[in-house]
Amino acid sequence: MIKVLMVCLGNICRSPLAEGILKSKVYTDKIVIDSAGTVAYHVGNLPDKRSIEVAKNYGISINDQRARKFVVKDFDEFDYIYAMDESNYQNILKLSRNENDSKKVRLILNESYPNENLSVPDPYYGGDQGFVDVYKMLDEACEIIANKLASK
Ligand code: 4NP
Repeated sequence: MIKVLMVCLGNICRSPLAEGILKSKVYTDKIVIDSAGTVAYHVGNLPDKRSIEVAKNYGISINDQRARKFVVKDFDEFDYIYAMDESNYQNILKLSRNENDSKKVRLILNESYPNENLSVPDPYYGGDQGFVDVYKMLDEACEIIANKLASK
């Protein structure tokens, strides 16, 4: 079993898309994918309507997801923890207890743009195009992640 966790700030815009996209590219139940946010503002909520809409336009349903907060125990549960942006990355690292925890944490766009330390922009306060842009970035990164996982 390989477990992958996608993490953003609110767990309503970016990481639900990353979770849904990666799930759509993985064809085995030996890979488990979840998402979480570093803050609790939206706990229990559905993904943002705009994330639901853009996912739907690409044939993916993320309506079954509910926001939750990242917890320290996630370091024990998950093998790979993908942060959507630099701030999420730092916030997760602050919670790590040791090197075993911290080495699980990566910036998701380093999969598609290695060593560039790029962030998936927070689309929350912007317009619909921001969600389309986020979708495309995550689709590209998740394609690479799915291929890597398939070869494990
Ligand atoms: P996410 O986007 O981190 O991609 O889920 C955000 C969602 C909510 C807020 C900010 C970003 N907020 O400030 O409530």
